Amino acid sequence: MSATITASAYTSHVPAIGVAIDRGLTGEEYWQPLFAGTEAARGWMSDHTPDVVILVYNDHGNAFSLDLIPTFALGTGESFEPADEGWGARPVPTVYGHPDLAAHVAQSVIQQDFDLTLVNRMAVDHGLTVPLSIMFDQPVEWPCRVIPLAVNVVQYPVPSGRRCLELGKAIRRAVETFDDDLDVQVWGTGGMSHQLQGRRAGLINQPWDHDFMERLIADPEGLAEMPHVEYVREAGSEGIELVMWLIARGAMADLAGGDAPSVAHRFYHVPASNTAVGQLILDAA
Ligand code: DHB
Ligand code: FE
Repeated sequence: MSATITASAYTSHVPAIGVAIDRGLTGEEYWQPLFAGTEAARGWMSDHTPDVVILVYNDHGNAFSLDLIPTFALGTGESFEPADEGWGARPVPTVYGHPDLAAHVAQSVIQQDFDLTLVNRMAVDHGLTVPLSIMFDQPVEWPCRVIPLAVNVVQYPVPSGRRCLELGKAIRRAVETFDDDLDVQVWGTGGMSHQLQGRRAGLINQPWDHDFMERLIADPEGLAEMPHVEYVREAGSEGIELVMWLIARGAMADLAGGDAPSVAHRFYHVPASNTAVGQLILDAA
């Protein structure tokens, strides 16, 4: 038997969502609609908890800084502590990696000509911990291993959509040649439309977000051709985080000649903080 990619999941990582969960505010009027919509994702995840999540996210100047800017950084370590982003670390469990699978993914993906940076020690910020809280709520321990894959979408030049989709395909080939019977999901996180600074701060573009989700499901190869300037113009300067969703999408079977995934969950809500929130789960079965 080998490891199998059973699903991909996609979600925004707005830090205020983490604060709402950590402080028990999810029932408040502002948050209730968002968490009501999140229930279905949590239900699906509790019925389909994988052994390992390869969690594609971006660091926001917490593990890395302008001193060191890896384009694709794979977490090969045993464990990763939640970062202190200025208000103390979030009260969430330590993230345990899967060093054997991560080493295999590194070997395979680098031999497929993607030059990954390997990280044995780093703190993980809201980009990684908020998606875990969205999908798994507040467990004492996270219910699966998590291999972080940090993508630079903060300091230009950032990788293209095409590069991201192709990396996802390479990750699929890597996982499916790992000699252990593991259930693996790939998650793409960040987005949706938002701009946190500058003259257009607060920008949200709902029609564009819906179209992005639609194309991600039905036309990922076409979507991969979208240039950065369109993300930034239409979805705001931080909307560029959405290129990371293409990595998770690239890992699905249909892009390797297999069956199209089914949509197990789809949800969209505005606003959370200054951000449009999207969630999607694509089931390979
Ligand atoms: C915020 C920060 C993020 O990293 C993000 O993706 C969305 C929102 C914020 O500070 O509100
Ligand atoms: Fe972000």
